Amino acid sequence: MSTSSGLQKIEWARAHMPVLAEVTKEVTSSGELKGRRVAACLHLEAKTACLLLALSQAGAEVWAAASNPLSTQDDVVDALIKLGVKVSGRRGESLDEYSRDIDALITCHPDLVIDDGGDLIMRFHERGGQGLSVLGACEETTTGITRIRALDRRAGLLFPVIAVNDARSKRLFDNRYGTGQSALDGILRTTNLLIAGKNVVVLGYGWCGKGVAVRARGLGACVIVCEVDPVKANEALMEGFRVMPALEASEVGDVFITVTGCRDVLTARHFSLMKDGALLCNAGHFDVEIRVDELSEMAAERITVRDGIEMFRMRDGRRLYLLGQGRLVNLACADGHPVEIMDMSFSLQLMSIWYLAGHHLELPKRLIPVPEDIDTKVAAARLAALGVKIDTLTNEQRQYLGGPDGND
Ligand code: ADE
Repeated sequence: MSTSSGLQKIEWARAHMPVLAEVTKEVTSSGELKGRRVAACLHLEAKTACLLLALSQAGAEVWAAASNPLSTQDDVVDALIKLGVKVSGRRGESLDEYSRDIDALITCHPDLVIDDGGDLIMRFHERGGQGLSVLGACEETTTGITRIRALDRRAGLLFPVIAVNDARSKRLFDNRYGTGQSALDGILRTTNLLIAGKNVVVLGYGWCGKGVAVRARGLGACVIVCEVDPVKANEALMEGFRVMPALEASEVGDVFITVTGCRDVLTARHFSLMKDGALLCNAGHFDVEIRVDELSEMAAERITVRDGIEMFRMRDGRRLYLLGQGRLVNLACADGHPVEIMDMSFSLQLMSIWYLAGHHLELPKRLIPVPEDIDTKVAAARLAALGVKIDTLTNEQRQYLGGPDGND
């Protein structure tokens, strides 16, 4: 069987992104993005390519760089370059190269910015003056929003930033079903091992953690959830999962999946308790959740035993296996979220960038939500693409609910 090219991978994704196609038509015909320079720091794979090409189609000049050193698909990057997108990033690039590519996005003086994880937006703020010509930015992830919200409170922002992550059409699907399916996909593809009957420990029960826990249960795992928020811990309990502290879970887990967005979730204290053969992986944005440095220090031997899997042999003989170097397992060990999920997320990105282009003068230099009508429109466009019809409120019902759109 021959392997597909980067171009074919992009075509496959594009054929399954009807919402993005619809939104692109509208944005293009408005002419609003014509001649605008858009800098995008994203995971460079086929679905992202579709967003970048949609922006180009709408008349924007697009510059792109990787948002993670280990998520880039080189064949997709090559295809994008052939198609005229200015893109830099290679799978497995060094942190210096990664950083240099982000700098290049800054010095291209973009009008609009799309970010995944907040590195690009943060860099503009570190460089002060170089962010002054930016009209606005969109951020894709929970991690990025957390960083930008902290910056907004601490020092203020240089330009408006739309919290695309927080839109309902994003987080309810991308974070939950997207991360849920793709994290398990990464584990299954890399290990070729069975999930059924294993103790799968999910550390963090936000929207992403919920998705991972539910999909692991769907594959027959006994799921254990570790949380620091009592409300979320109660949610996990009522969903039927076992809940316990991470140290306790360390003694019984077969597979550990960190998805907290925080640092130092699995450390030497946990590694010293784990069973021989335990698998460790991370589905959070940054590779700070599993202390790989501590794991490495504790190990007598560290070798690659299969593509994407390193074995750490402890001095007492136990073997712990780390997937994807502790970087996000869904992109380092698989292709990221399913296409249909990114169809919605990237449609929100495109519409939000379009909104910024048209409305930046009236927007505060703050972290702001995706406008409700854009959020709803993306959800409605997906239903339309699927041929699914839903009901609408009557005037009487709208009045009964107390407002023109029934939401007051
Ligand atoms: N593919 C492109 N961007 C992604 C993201 N933020 N998460 C998962 N898969 C992706």
